[in-house]
Amino acid sequence: MEPGGFSPRVTNPESRTMRTPFLAANWKMFKTVDQTVAYLHEFCALAADVAGAEIVVAPPFTALRAAAEVTRGTNVGIAAQDCYWEREGAFTGEVSAAMIKDAGAGYVIIGHSERRRLFGDTDDWVNRKLNAVLANDLTPIVCIGETLEERDANQTLAVLDRQIEAAIAGLTHAQIGSLVIAYEPVWAIGTGRNATPAQAGEAHAHIRARLRGAFGQAAADACHLLYGGSVKPENIKDLMALEDVDGALVGGASLTAASFFAIVTGAVSSV
Ligand code: PGA
Repeated sequence: MEPGGFSPRVTNPESRTMRTPFLAANWKMFKTVDQTVAYLHEFCALAADVAGAEIVVAPPFTALRAAAEVTRGTNVGIAAQDCYWEREGAFTGEVSAAMIKDAGAGYVIIGHSERRRLFGDTDDWVNRKLNAVLANDLTPIVCIGETLEERDANQTLAVLDRQIEAAIAGLTHAQIGSLVIAYEPVWAIGTGRNATPAQAGEAHAHIRARLRGAFGQAAADACHLLYGGSVKPENIKDLMALEDVDGALVGGASLTAASFFAIVTGAVSSV
C-alpha cells in the first residue's frame, strides 16, 4: 500500500460499538459444484478455530445448495452474488431472494459494480433488491463505489451519496443497523491497484457520517462497512487499521482457500 496520512483504528470503546470483522469472498463466475465443495472442505477446516469474525463465501447460484450443505454447522456463511426482487413469475433467467433462502444461503451481494456496468443494474433496482433481501430475512451486502472518471472529476463523495441514498430509501433505523455496505472503487476491482489508506479512510468515514446524519449514531455504528478492490493477504492489515473499515469483500484473492484464509487471519489479528 502507498504510504498515506491515515488515522489508525480508534479503540476507545465509549466512542463506538464493536463491530465483528466481516470477510466476504466474492467468487464471481468461477467454480463448479465439485470445485466449490472441495474449496469449502479445505477452507472450513482451516477456519474452524477462528472466533470473532463473520466469514461469508459467495459462489455462483448453481453451487449455493451444495455450499450451504458443506458449511452447515460451521462458522462460514453462504451468500448469493445477486437476486431479483420479485418472489416468482415470468422472469426468465432470474433468481429470487426467496429461492436463495430456500437454497440455504444467508446473505446476498447487491449492486456489485459488474452488475451495474455490464448488466444495467440501476440505483432503483438496488433498492428493490435490497428490500427483497430484507423481506426474506437475509443479510444484504450492498456495493457502492465510483469509477476512475468520477474520481478524477472530484465526484467520489457525491457518487457515494447518490448510491447510498437510492439504495436505502425507505429503510428503517433497525434495518440500517443490519446492513453490510461494501465500498468498492471500480478502478480498484481486479486491477491490482487498491485504494490508498487515505482514499479508503476518507470514503468510509464519509459513508459512516452520512448514515449517522440520516439514521443516528446507534444505527450507523451497527452497520458494517467493508472495503473491496484488490484486497490481498499483504494489504488487509493496513485496511483493517482504518477506523471505519470493518472488513473486506474479496474477489480474486478469495479463489484459493489458503489465500482467503490468510486474509481472514490477517483481519482478525489486526483488531
Ligand atoms: P477483486 O474484486 O478483489 O478481485 O479486486 C473485488 C470485488 O469485485 O468484489
